[in-house]
Amino acid sequence: MKQYKAVNWNDPENDYALMFWEQNIKQFWIDTEYIPSKDIDSWKALSPEMRECYKKALGGLTLLDTLQSHTGMPKIMDHIDSLQNKSVLAYMCMMEAIHAKSYSTIFTTVATSQDIEDIFNWVQNNKYLQFKASTIDKYYRKLAETDISKEDLFMGLCASVLLESFLFYSGFFIPLWLCGQGHMVASADIIKKIIADESIHGVFVGLLAQDVYKKLPNPERAKEKLIVLLNDLYENELKYTEEIYTDVGLTAEVKEYVRYNANKALMNLGFEPTFEVKRVNPIVLNGLNVETTQHDFFSKKSTNYEKATEIVHLRDEDFAMDTSIAI
Ligand SMILES: [Fe+2]
Ligand SMILES: [Fe+2]
Repeated sequence: MKQYKAVNWNDPENDYALMFWEQNIKQFWIDTEYIPSKDIDSWKALSPEMRECYKKALGGLTLLDTLQSHTGMPKIMDHIDSLQNKSVLAYMCMMEAIHAKSYSTIFTTVATSQDIEDIFNWVQNNKYLQFKASTIDKYYRKLAETDISKEDLFMGLCASVLLESFLFYSGFFIPLWLCGQGHMVASADIIKKIIADESIHGVFVGLLAQDVYKKLPNPERAKEKLIVLLNDLYENELKYTEEIYTDVGLTAEVKEYVRYNANKALMNLGFEPTFEVKRVNPIVLNGLNVETTQHDFFSKKSTNYEKATEIVHLRDEDFAMDTSIAI
């Protein structure tokens, strides 16, 4: 007869569960604590092409967070032995649902009902987004089976890290790029909270994957499978980037950022970076480092974040405009 165990946080199961639990708690936030309505004037000032790009980027991000919340985290949790690690994943799963909802909070503020309907239809019909979701979901569905190999588990964890640390970033580029120049700043506060969370998720699931990798009977074969998956997703990511960024002239810069984050995903999985990265747009990199957010998951909660009503938002004046770049 199966014995059911209760999670005992007084008995250290591994080196990192408690640390990740505490860091996750420090980073807690909900979308309704932010006020994207401050961006309405900024939104109206954007070109139609820029608005279209922004909406598509957020639509794509919503799809990935939906997949991660509804399928990725729950399926992974089923195969992790440590009850404390399962708890950390359960917390992350809840945050993924908050992430997925938060894009709707931004949409509600800046877009019309028709716009919102159009964007969700676009998500459902965009072949590159659907490829991302179906490719990752294939590995998650394998985890739905009860009797899976360690290699299947490793690949499921890899798929999760690729989603968290790599696939999100073509979408994150545009809100960071605009915010770095003083546009859509209030909405970017939400996006930066999501990025801080995805950062910790990628590191944590990456560590779980590394634990499994050490026990694989044929690690070389598993690594080859990972590289094939990464390259398939990378090729798709380039086409997706072209589709949403060509009209605003940012394709080359986003591709560079995509490669930069592909390397980060590999490093989270314990492997060497393989993509050559020349120069990532400093506005976007700085967007991750401004005082309002913390991309480094060991850092404390955002300085711009206060629970309840005392929220101090960034103002346009906090950013020096680079007038050489057209918005
Ligand atoms: Fe997320
Ligand atoms: Fe995540």
